Amino acid sequence: MRVLVTGGAGFIGSHTVDLLLQKGYEVRILDNLTPPVHIEGQVPAYVPREAEFILGDVRDRAAWERALQGVDAVFHFAAYQDYLTDFSKFFHVNTVGTAMLYEVIVANKLPIQKIVVASSQAAYGEGKYQCETDGIQYPPLRPVEQLMQRDWEPHCPVCNKTMKPVVTDEARLNPHNQYAMSKYTQEMLALNFGRRYNIPSAAVRFSITQGPRQSFRNAYSGALRIFTTRLISHHAPVCYEDGQQLRDYVSVHDVARANVLVMEDARANYESFNIGGGRAITVEQYARLIASKLNKSIEPSIPGEFRFGDTRHIVSDISKLCALGWSVQVSIDEIVEEYIAWAGEQPDVRDYYAEAEVAMKKMGTIRET
Ligand SMILES: NC(=O)c1ccc[n+]([C@@H]2O[C@H](COP(=O)([O-])OP(=O)(O)OC[C@H]3O[C@@H](n4cnc5c(N)ncnc54)[C@H](O)[C@@H]3O)[C@@H](O)[C@H]2O)c1
Repeated sequence: MRVLVTGGAGFIGSHTVDLLLQKGYEVRILDNLTPPVHIEGQVPAYVPREAEFILGDVRDRAAWERALQGVDAVFHFAAYQDYLTDFSKFFHVNTVGTAMLYEVIVANKLPIQKIVVASSQAAYGEGKYQCETDGIQYPPLRPVEQLMQRDWEPHCPVCNKTMKPVVTDEARLNPHNQYAMSKYTQEMLALNFGRRYNIPSAAVRFSITQGPRQSFRNAYSGALRIFTTRLISHHAPVCYEDGQQLRDYVSVHDVARANVLVMEDARANYESFNIGGGRAITVEQYARLIASKLNKSIEPSIPGEFRFGDTRHIVSDISKLCALGWSVQVSIDEIVEEYIAWAGEQPDVRDYYAEAEVAMKKMGTIRET
């Protein structure tokens, strides 16, 4: 069985490629080696030789036509990410790219048995909260005026009291930013075209995924890589807001196993699944954990800045995927230890955050209070 992995030269894609090869699948990668994730045009050394590599862009029909020949299943992971304000590019790459995948399959009547598209926890926006008076709520984006007052917790849309976060299941999406909206449209395209044309399809909504191979050069997001590179360079890790945001970081190894399960298991067809760490930790706790694993006595910096469009707390309910037989196997400690060991071996490790911070402040993505 031959599996196409778009974005297979990237972080999650390459770990999924490794697992597919281990399990005896033939693998083809379609990737345009986009900067800043990659040094332009260079196939990373970790991409296995056994995988066939096609250099191409998911916005290009001819690239899809070539890449889909003789393929039985597709992981569609290539995407434009982060928090930059070139809004249209999110939809060109993520939405149009996914539409093109289905267009080429339908036009050529290709016998694809399964498509798994990468969505994101970001598609939940603020996710699910409990108001002590008004029950379960899905609050909208926190207003800038509220954040400027350093009033970080979401307020109940009915009574305006602050609310408690609860784990967010797959039932309701509420995307706020350009990336999240493009992931939402990708899911809609996959599940609806899939059903309509009998192409078994599924969407996987990753929580913040952590592990080796996360490109250092992309310093706009990714707490583990940013905190680690800051600390290795003797700089304090910067926590936005008050550092008390809850996150459910998940290991890329658990994510790769989940991806292959969703591809192989027909019970996953036409469904969306959360893939998260199943435990919550604050951003400040995470920064402190990374510092302690690096033996650095550097306190996190918490200057009261915020990332416009960010969510306060987001922790995914993973019970739907666990019901298919998957479970979290890598602990938070192991995630951090593995990443630090890998980062220490990389020749290009340095603090890329300062430049990214300047760019994000200039665009109004990071704001001071
Ligand atoms: N890493 C996370 O925490 C996370 C969380 C939620 C969702 N996701 C989703 O998972 C998928 C993989 O993310 P990742 O962290 O591995 O990212 P990554 O940046 O490491 O990998 C993405 C790969 O896609 C390629 N790519 C980008 N644009 C392309 C295009 N137009 N044509 C062909 N290839 C292109 C890049 O060169 C790169 O190799 C993405 O769809 C992302 O939205 C990731």
